[in-house]
Amino acid sequence: MRMKLGRNDLCWCGSNKKYKSCHLAFDEKITAFEEEGAIVPSRDMIKTPEQIEGVRKAGEVNTLILDKLEPYIKEGISTEEINDLVNQFTKELGGIPAPLNFEGYPKSVCVSINEVVCHGIPCKERKLMSGDIVNIDVSTIVNGYFGDSSRMYCIGEVSEEKRKLVQVTKECVDLAMKEIKPWSFLGDVGYVINQHAKANGYTVVREIGGHGVGLEFHEEPWVSHIGQRGTDMLLVPGMIFTVEPMVNMGKADVVQDEEDGWTIYTEDGKPSAQWEYMILVTEDGMEILAH
Ligand code: MF3
Ligand code: CO
Repeated sequence: MRMKLGRNDLCWCGSNKKYKSCHLAFDEKITAFEEEGAIVPSRDMIKTPEQIEGVRKAGEVNTLILDKLEPYIKEGISTEEINDLVNQFTKELGGIPAPLNFEGYPKSVCVSINEVVCHGIPCKERKLMSGDIVNIDVSTIVNGYFGDSSRMYCIGEVSEEKRKLVQVTKECVDLAMKEIKPWSFLGDVGYVINQHAKANGYTVVREIGGHGVGLEFHEEPWVSHIGQRGTDMLLVPGMIFTVEPMVNMGKADVVQDEEDGWTIYTEDGKPSAQWEYMILVTEDGMEILAH
């Protein structure tokens, strides 16, 4: 519920300014959209400047961990060794791996190869091989704030069609970035992702989306990577969420591993790619907080 503040009360954002000279006009603008029938973010989806600073730092650490991993992501490394490196780099940078023990997840990073869509669990047995495409999804807690982003790598000699899947998926995320600005809609983000994937003969996973992030690993809103323009939630400054489409070469359907309860595969066994950025909606556009 949106608390009603007096004009001369202190603003809810923690600025110590009076409401009328801080977020009053902002709240009125949101209310106007709401009255027109828009889905609007609740106040707890709008971060305060102090929270934004904390999440920005967590995002920087997350990005740095991925940068530091990069030279090691080569043919022959086991996914377990990637997990060990994530633990080491995260510790060195003063963070905590967010996946470890998250809802029972057993490792510190997700490593998803070829037909694994996401949530691949590192293990000693699986080494990266020439021809693999692999997603490394890193999430980090720093001073209680969360960062989250992922990248794809092509290992050794990768077929032209798999390379293209990786490239087009990256283009999907980059196109989505252009849609993120205040007073546009989350549906615009999913729309351009799905359009670009479809134009290349690919499909977008429906069941798994991006998410609000920052004070917790997964917050509202849920971010669909398929959308319609002008629908879904209004974007306003201070919102932080991920965009992380999973794009499949074949059909969109996915299945979950019944044994480990985590690994998501394409149902048809064809390859899938994913890139993830964590973004902040700013006053005049957006800022990438982790990539
Ligand atoms: N990193 C994933 C995301 O982008 C979340 C994975 S949950 C985990 O949202 F427990 F598997 F790590
Ligand atoms: Co995420």
